[in-house]
Amino acid sequence: VLPLLRGKWGRPYYHYPQLQSTNETLKQMAASLPEGAVVVAEEQAGGKGRRGRSWHSPPGGIWFSLLLRPAVHPLALLSLPLVLSLAVVKSLSGFFPELDWALKWPNDILCRGKKLGGVLVEVAAETEQVHWAVAGIGINVNISSFPPELEGRATSLELCRGKKSCRPCLLAAILERAEELYSLWCREGFAPLAKDYQALFLYRGRRVRVEEEGRFWEGKAEGVDDKGRLVLRLDDGSLRLLLGGEVTLREV
Ligand code: BTN
Repeated sequence: VLPLLRGKWGRPYYHYPQLQSTNETLKQMAASLPEGAVVVAEEQAGGKGRRGRSWHSPPGGIWFSLLLRPAVHPLALLSLPLVLSLAVVKSLSGFFPELDWALKWPNDILCRGKKLGGVLVEVAAETEQVHWAVAGIGINVNISSFPPELEGRATSLELCRGKKSCRPCLLAAILERAEELYSLWCREGFAPLAKDYQALFLYRGRRVRVEEEGRFWEGKAEGVDDKGRLVLRLDDGSLRLLLGGEVTLREV
């Protein structure tokens, strides 16, 4: 079923019963497509997560990728996953305000403390110019159980609500909200979104451990700054600003 699209995104809209990965398919087609092109798959045989992980993508989820051509400096793209994960939570919490929503910096979407979705942005850029960004978004919607290795960490809307949800309705709302936040981000950067992100930020004020390229930082997570960087107060009182990219965050 095609979602009812009110914005510019979702044109063209490609829907497949099965793909290896919507990111891979969209990357291959990127050169000839305009901003806003969307690839959706009912299931992915080789869904990809961040940090080279695989992404469990059975039927019942929302697995899609979006083509973006932002006229920004490549470094600014580090806050794009934050913008998109914020858009997902804003639209899902609009439908289901009774559920407990949170964002785990930089790009995890949590419901009732467990991972409900994630964003994977892949980029083609030169030093000063972005050619395109493929933003893959995965949301566990109508999924009633997870394999043992994900049990306890992952959740779905079905598990949180106790019933199934209308996927095309959710996808349409997410595309609309993401388009709105993205165009604000293109014009003004992450600053106008920082407060909303911060309000949903899971570990605010809590002690965390961050792994960045094999190095570890421990301290209190003070929040997210106006560039989308994690503000970490180290034990010696100094501040460290961490960029998204290849970083993992844990509470200690
Ligand atoms: C993460 O949290 O590690 C990011 C997960 C991103 C998953 C989505 S599903 C649609 C798109 N295609 C992929 O292969 N991955 C992303």
